[in-house]
Amino acid sequence: MPETRETVLVLDFGGQYAQLIARRVRELNVYCEIRPCHTPPEQLAGCKGIIFTGGPGSVYQPDAPLCSPQVFQLGVPVLGICYGAQVMAQLLGGQVAPTAAPEFGETPVSFSKESGLFAGIPDSICWMSHNDAVAQLPQGFVSSAASQGCPVAAMEDPERKFYAVQFHPEVGHTEHGDAMLRNFLYHICGCRGEWEMGSFTQQTVEALKERLKGKRVLCGLSGGVDSSVAAMLVHRAIGRDLTCIFVDHGLLRKDEGDLVEEVFTREFDMNIIRVNAGPRFLAKLAGVTEPEQKRKIIGEEFIRVFEEESAKLGKMDLLCQGTIYPDVVESGTGQAAVIKSHHNVGGLPEDIGFEGLVEPLRDLFKDEVRRVGLELGIPQQLVWRQPFPGPGLAVRIIGEITAQRVKTLQEADAIFREEVANFGLEREIGQYFAVLTGTKSVGVMGDGRSYGETIALRAVNTTDFMTADWVHLPYELLGKASNRIVNQVAGVTRVVYDVTSKPPATIEWE
Ligand code: XMP
Repeated sequence: MPETRETVLVLDFGGQYAQLIARRVRELNVYCEIRPCHTPPEQLAGCKGIIFTGGPGSVYQPDAPLCSPQVFQLGVPVLGICYGAQVMAQLLGGQVAPTAAPEFGETPVSFSKESGLFAGIPDSICWMSHNDAVAQLPQGFVSSAASQGCPVAAMEDPERKFYAVQFHPEVGHTEHGDAMLRNFLYHICGCRGEWEMGSFTQQTVEALKERLKGKRVLCGLSGGVDSSVAAMLVHRAIGRDLTCIFVDHGLLRKDEGDLVEEVFTREFDMNIIRVNAGPRFLAKLAGVTEPEQKRKIIGEEFIRVFEEESAKLGKMDLLCQGTIYPDVVESGTGQAAVIKSHHNVGGLPEDIGFEGLVEPLRDLFKDEVRRVGLELGIPQQLVWRQPFPGPGLAVRIIGEITAQRVKTLQEADAIFREEVANFGLEREIGQYFAVLTGTKSVGVMGDGRSYGETIALRAVNTTDFMTADWVHLPYELLGKASNRIVNQVAGVTRVVYDVTSKPPATIEWE
């Protein structure tokens, strides 16, 4: 744990909301990190407060995830949420049992007027999701909130600064959830609220100046927000001692390669080598139709190009990467079944001969990275760039990838994006793009029969990319985009809209 930074720790019991809790805390200007629930207590010492997450199990089951009871001896305030509340009750001598009826969703809750956690908060709606609840309070605790189905909707021992809520203050449906978290952080843990992106930027640049003095740093720039912001921070610190290699694999969206080059070389005078490797990638991909094969080829070729270019630069000391906090958390939790191998193109081999890595965004969530990007003056267009898969348009072209098909998709995709922007929906939609489906269909153009490609449009909203809903785009937008695509993009005779959510579909078609 950073020794000097005021930090609150989230202890993860397997709930789906660990990252959301940490983000909420940071939005309230307190730095927060996530730790597994079995972290040894001595590694938690020194923090300002600990928050237990929810979890899928029952605390009385044999393999239930629990933390060490010594966590309660650290002298640090604790807030238990849902399953975390039950962990607190169980470990401190109370009892947890199934409720008469489970509570799910928006539930009216009344609060004790004496509770510091609920100071200034009226009785209101909270988000519940539980089968179990605290049936008997541990010694020293009082009940501090109740709902119809849950007499201990919250409990507390203000003396020891232990607080627990059966509902989820971190989700938007809990009307005063933010105020509760604020009370916990500021009034109970005594935080001062020092976590701000302005000071992060300044402190990080200063620290990088110190660490990178006399060093040459290499960075793989993709134009995505993470690598762009990481590179800009390092650039601020060491200027042209940072060299960026931008491998343009020719599978970017229309004009995107030029935009990246323009912004970073012209506006910021960054030392960038753009490698126009499109033809080389196309040659390797010729005749390949299998999606995983495409990803593999692109991932490997990317590394090869990068290695060749970096070899020309002579000895570089350090490699800069745009790793962000969710990458760090997720790589520590083991993986579910591999549905697609998400090669992070830009992910580089470890044995490339650097003395170390520079990862200035390792502690930040995506929205924080964006705020730093804006601080650094990176244009909105890049800061708000929607996620784009490393293998680029290759996984949106079903069947063989040819220069002509790439161009067709780029044109159709650009029109769709333009229309989404015309309707003012750019920031409302998580991800939206066109797909070249590989299905041919008959059309009529003028008086003649035509036989051309089918474009699918896809737009999804998602919080974590694990699940996603298709977006109910206005018919006028779809109509306009469809009309323009069939009229302006040669070889396209039909446009369809993808109305499948994830699961069962994935976001990308391949
Ligand atoms: P799926 O299609 O699995 O996508 O629902 C989830 C998110 O991941 C992106 N994606 C990729 N990103 N390399 C990447 O860097 C890949 O091979 C890849 N495949 C999918 C996708 O755009 C979405 O944001």
